[in-house]
Amino acid sequence: RRRRRRREAEDERKRKAAAVVEEVEQAFSTPTALLRGIADAMVEEMQRGLRADPHAPLKMLISYVDNLPTGDEHGLFYALDLGGTNFRVIRVQLGGREKRVVKQQYEEVSIPPHLMVGTSTELFDFIAAELEKFVGTEGEDFHLPDGRQRELGFTFSFPVHQTSISSGTLIKWTKGFSINGTVGEDVVAELSRAMERQGLDMKVIALVNDTVGTLAGGRYVDNDVAASVILGTGTNAAYVEHANMIPKWNGRLPRSGNMVINMEWGNFRSDKLPRSEYDKALDFESLNPGEQIYEKMISGMYLGEIVRRILLKLAHDASLFGDVVPPKLEQLFILRTPDMSAMHHDTSHDLKHLGAKLKDILGVPDTSLEARYITLHVCDLVAERGARLAAAGIYGILKKLGKDKLPNDFSQQRTVVAMDGGLYEHYKKFSSCLEATLTDLLGEEAASSVVVKMANDGSGIGAALLAASHSQYAA
Ligand code: GLC
Repeated sequence: RRRRRRREAEDERKRKAAAVVEEVEQAFSTPTALLRGIADAMVEEMQRGLRADPHAPLKMLISYVDNLPTGDEHGLFYALDLGGTNFRVIRVQLGGREKRVVKQQYEEVSIPPHLMVGTSTELFDFIAAELEKFVGTEGEDFHLPDGRQRELGFTFSFPVHQTSISSGTLIKWTKGFSINGTVGEDVVAELSRAMERQGLDMKVIALVNDTVGTLAGGRYVDNDVAASVILGTGTNAAYVEHANMIPKWNGRLPRSGNMVINMEWGNFRSDKLPRSEYDKALDFESLNPGEQIYEKMISGMYLGEIVRRILLKLAHDASLFGDVVPPKLEQLFILRTPDMSAMHHDTSHDLKHLGAKLKDILGVPDTSLEARYITLHVCDLVAERGARLAAAGIYGILKKLGKDKLPNDFSQQRTVVAMDGGLYEHYKKFSSCLEATLTDLLGEEAASSVVVKMANDGSGIGAALLAASHSQYAA
């Protein structure tokens, strides 16, 4: 009898697990028709943002970049790339049309977590000190003509209200940064003061978002680049807009007729977005509740955390990991997206790598095969939803640009989207799902003219290129 009771209890538990999984499947489903609706909502919100509708979730920020690199850029330039868990300092010797990038060096430093929530001065002093160290290692391959000041492109990957190509005030922090007293301040002034405190003589020539840097870096190597997307810790996109399609632009019409727009699409929201109870709870408990709704469903900072929340529910309601809920599973952000990706890519028949990860992260010594398969399935649901939502956003941009149909003019056949970010680069199931979804949305024919191209670390080089084209010494 005892055995029968045990079996009944086990059946009951399995039933509960199946019920939760089914609920999650429903809540996370993104049929193609829904994605089309999201793309249309994205286009509408783009237009609202370009009109500066005060309630528009998309800021559609004017970058002051109206010319993209041509290949003629020349000289030694530095770049600084701040915006994720790491920041990078870069120097590049540009050799003009023929020689292009003659030499480049960079160094990557991870940002001590306490600096992400500390003070502005601490953060900028840390960055300026690293930059100063890096400048000190400039070798003979790099050449600065006599009497010239070193010039810097500053990639600052947060929403900034630009007041010129080389100045702008921070609108808000995103992605786990939360530093008092920086919002509303000119970030170039902050960095410049910190460089002075270091005794570093360098001038910030261009202030760019990583999307804008990636667009510039992408265009330098491929003339057909029309938009850029970041899928990393956060997510965002930029594209080249006709200046006369930007009602809120009241400056002079640029000679090129174009203006690069930083969409800040991470803040996209729409009642079309399928937000689950997990998304709502994650948002509520985040550093920036109510903000960056789309980003919280897609980007690397959050995917693992969504999975953790679903597993926690399964542990609670269906004892997925045994009779006690593993205490570590209660810990916010303990499941990072790279670990989720590693679990998701386990192809062994008994999911032993996934099991080992679960053991590592959650401290559960043994997991049942059932628990591992359910975990795999949850990773799949969360990653697939993120990738499909991101594809809908890209499809929206292509629609806005009129590039969602096969061009009948054969001169400009390709449209290239420059892509950067660790999520896209390292999470293969995510990136292949995104590409397949985009093809599905475009249709085979139109899809043949659209290329998503990895522009590895394009944002740093892009900032250096924009510093070059705006150099105080430029002819
Ligand atoms: C966040 C930032 C945005 C950046 C993106 C990718 O969404 O707000 O400026 O481009 O992350 O790094």
